[in-house]
Amino acid sequence: MAGALRQSLDTLRSVMRFEAPETDPVARRIRRSVSVADMRRIARRRVPRGVFDYVDGGAEDERTLRANTEDFGRITFRPRVLRDVHDVDPSTTLLGRPLPLPMVFSPTGFTRIVCPEGELAVARAADRARLPYTLSTLGTRSIEEVAAVSGGAKWFQVYVWRDRGLVQELVERARESGFEALVLTVDNAVFGRRERDHRRGFTLPPTIGPGTIVDGARHPEWTWRFVRSEPIRFANVTGRSVGDGAEAVSLHRYIDTQFDPTMAWPDLEWLRDRWSGPIVVKGVQTVDDAVLASKVGVQAVMLSNHGGRQLDTAPTPISLVAPVTDAVGDAVEVICDGGVRRGSDIVKALALGARAVGVGRAYLYALGAAGERGVDHLVDLFTADVRRTMALCGVRTVPDLTREYVTNPF
Ligand code: GLV
Repeated sequence: MAGALRQSLDTLRSVMRFEAPETDPVARRIRRSVSVADMRRIARRRVPRGVFDYVDGGAEDERTLRANTEDFGRITFRPRVLRDVHDVDPSTTLLGRPLPLPMVFSPTGFTRIVCPEGELAVARAADRARLPYTLSTLGTRSIEEVAAVSGGAKWFQVYVWRDRGLVQELVERARESGFEALVLTVDNAVFGRRERDHRRGFTLPPTIGPGTIVDGARHPEWTWRFVRSEPIRFANVTGRSVGDGAEAVSLHRYIDTQFDPTMAWPDLEWLRDRWSGPIVVKGVQTVDDAVLASKVGVQAVMLSNHGGRQLDTAPTPISLVAPVTDAVGDAVEVICDGGVRRGSDIVKALALGARAVGVGRAYLYALGAAGERGVDHLVDLFTADVRRTMALCGVRTVPDLTREYVTNPF
């Protein structure tokens, strides 16, 4: 009897594990975030619905928003086996700079509405990962504030304001602060119709009304941090006549009154004459425009539809990678921005010919789920994913990653 009891206890002991409970709530959330989808779910719980919808939503029926991600799933791998993949190396170069992972942080406006540290948290995480961070013109931390926290590669995203003097001034400030490249966004001559924001009457910064009071009360931690931190502003244009968001505005009204819908190819040349470093054109959505861009002396095109937030049913960036890289050859580097949720997506974009991918929304989910440490975690996940995917495809280095390893359904 005693022997049987001892044996049962031994068996139980061999299968039971007691983990010390995780007392750090951020670490707990990181442990539960094994994918971007997990981070999105956690962020959705933690930030007010209006804020979540601004980040998560897209234009009109959100077909492009969904397709950006779904199109990656339409590509299948053609893995090769029995190859030595013990030392996979996902590093590459972009704009002449080495990158440990083929990824850049794309610009996102109003990052502080997700987490008060906002752009500074993301810039620091990017610096630690040795990946370029792109600050948006509509950032809620300024060029100088970002430069003060990151000695790493920084790019500045430019919109063409009606006031060209303001653009010139922003470009000069970016240069003085050591930003390495300009990213000219060309897909929002006018603002896309984001119906979730219209439905909620969402403004930036979020205004307090009966709906938002309930929303805020349901997310006390976010609300407490929001009211304790300094007011959210368009930090790059604070004090300028264009308005810096001190008065809450609907973004579509702001952009449609401040940004210049007459922007055209000569504006790119205008910018070219004022910036000696690399220029990336972001928002290219056809082969023809990629070819035009490659002929005006820019260094890279970012295939992007603004995360599905501008023209609904625009083509997905991943579907353009092969035809665009075929058409532009080595004249410009091609970055695929939109819908990247896994390292395997990065591998697919590279196999089709992209030099790197841009990641935006995914890091906002990470920030909403676990703050700055969430963004570090996202980079760790993507790095591990890319290494594993390359190994399972039988590929050791980025230059070896060719179309031979994927089917192209587009
Ligand atoms: C800003 O660029 C946005 O897409 O909201």
